[in-house]
Amino acid sequence: MSFEQCRPLITGSSRGIGRAFIDAFLEAGAPKIYAGVRNEGAAATVAAIDPRVHPIIVDTTKPDEVARAARDASDVTVLVNNAGVLHYAGFLSAPDLDQARHEMEVNYFGPLAMARAFAPALARSQGTIVNILSIAALVYMPLVGTYNASKAAARSMTQGLRVDLADIGVGVMAVYAGGYDTEMHLESTDKALLNPPSVLTGAVLDALAKGGVDELFPDAAARGLGQRLGLIAAD
Ligand SMILES: NC(=O)c1ccc[n+]([C@@H]2O[C@H](COP(=O)([O-])OP(=O)(O)OC[C@H]3O[C@@H](n4cnc5c(N)ncnc54)[C@H](OP(=O)(O)O)[C@@H]3O)[C@@H](O)[C@H]2O)c1
Repeated sequence: MSFEQCRPLITGSSRGIGRAFIDAFLEAGAPKIYAGVRNEGAAATVAAIDPRVHPIIVDTTKPDEVARAARDASDVTVLVNNAGVLHYAGFLSAPDLDQARHEMEVNYFGPLAMARAFAPALARSQGTIVNILSIAALVYMPLVGTYNASKAAARSMTQGLRVDLADIGVGVMAVYAGGYDTEMHLESTDKALLNPPSVLTGAVLDALAKGGVDELFPDAAARGLGQRLGLIAAD
């Protein structure tokens, strides 16, 4: 893929990895970047980054906002389903099911709703969906059990969409992210264990440029796990 005609939409681009995607696509020369945010304040902030950045207000759990985004960004060529939440909830330790439901809403139903709404536009552009998953989709981590389940559901959805959309020429990439230095982590997390978000965004843009990449392990921890699970070849 050449980035000269690339018009990505990134959900959850107010901060963290999503914000880093804006910078990466700008640097790569994309002429128009749809920056998905959830309120007018964040829209003004991302609009000020560069004239090529077009804010789109979209909470991915709100069907009316998803439909409006699909109408307003009908020339999109890459949909980056990045928005996500992590509640640090265990299956049994959480007081009720509210956090588990919220993680499913944002991490599974949100990307599914966006993929359904944007499939016609992506078919027209022969574009790509990039789903930001996690190594938590692949193995159980006790402190974040309900998050694991939501990302595992999103992985299954990603694999299914890849089959369903192949006939109309839309690619679907799964990104199994390790640890990245964003507000998603607790204050107590050892930052030395985390990668800058640019490691992930750089790997995704390299994969888009190469084309045909279905499964991406963007950092050393992710590649190590992928190799141990036999999902990718050893170096
Ligand atoms: N950081 C990591 O180590 C790591 C590792 C593996 C995977 N990931 C995945 O990477 C993605 C980005 O994470 P991050 O670390 O950048 O997290 P973050 O810093 O907490 O940012 C999360 C982003 O998602 C947005 N968001 C939350 N709920 C939303 C909704 N309902 N609709 C639309 N946007 C919503 C937030 O918007 P507001 O600013 O409006 O709240 C924010 O822009 C997530 O899918 C996460 O699961 C992260």
